[in-house]
Amino acid sequence: MLEESIKATEAAPAKSKDSDWVSPYTDFRRHRKMGMSGIHTLLITPGFWAIVGYRFLHAIDAAFRKTPLRPIANQFCIFSTAIISAWTQCLLPARAKIGPGLYILHSGPMMINDGVVIGSNCTMVRGVAIGHHMTSAGDSPVIGDRVFIGTGAILFGSIEVGHDSLIGAGAVLTRSVPPRSVVMGNPARVMGNTGSFHLVRYDGMETDPERLASLAQVPQQTDTQTSG
Ligand SMILES: CC(C)(COP(=O)(O)OP(=O)(O)OC[C@H]1O[C@@H](n2cnc3c(N)ncnc32)[C@H](O)[C@@H]1OP(=O)(O)O)[C@@H](O)C(=O)NCCC(=O)NCCS
Repeated sequence: MLEESIKATEAAPAKSKDSDWVSPYTDFRRHRKMGMSGIHTLLITPGFWAIVGYRFLHAIDAAFRKTPLRPIANQFCIFSTAIISAWTQCLLPARAKIGPGLYILHSGPMMINDGVVIGSNCTMVRGVAIGHHMTSAGDSPVIGDRVFIGTGAILFGSIEVGHDSLIGAGAVLTRSVPPRSVVMGNPARVMGNTGSFHLVRYDGMETDPERLASLAQVPQQTDTQTSG
């Protein structure tokens, strides 16, 4: 049991992603790597359409953020996000920061709020919600790279989720967790430290030094489950 490790002080800070333009091709490739055909991804995957919309609106928001046209761009992004959300059931606000290679499994309904930061090559399954605490001041979750968030999981408040963590289906997570955490339950508890390696695939993963360094931290006896 690693319950003690759910302490903000022990959580590895997730890397902040702040690039203004990320090509939706990275997300397309991620869907392909996770086993979806190109036709399926492009034609009948509302989650992917929502990601493409988000990528363009995020770039527009960033481009006009420091110009006099900012209020107009802001309204355009809010309006467009609402339309895309109604259409795809996936709410990805333009001001959220999402790294390359996002994979939304089974599409919506799902939502994140505009303060959320998500790292690269993360997976969110249908029913995920990530947002503000609502009753206390503070920011929204900052989620590391290669994190898998299972169906119906809810993450809120000023928390950090370490790289390669696995958030189980239905977990309600309100505290920071260190890298490679396996988190389950409501309230969520860290139940393991073998991470999400067996659930997250992406181009170049076999030679990604960050992933390999993280994988090397997994306890020896679990190597058979996490190799590759
Ligand atoms: C977190 C997860 C990966 C754990 O899988 P696992 O390591 O194989 O764990 P097991 O299924 O062997 O279960 C181990 C224990 O944890 C419990 N458990 C498993 N998942 C749980 C969850 N999400 N919430 C609470 N308890 C959970 C099991 O009941 C079991 O308890 P027990 O030992 O008292 O019997 C998995 O349960 C999960 O949530 N996957 C995501 C599912 C999802 O999002 N699916 C949608 C895609 S189609």
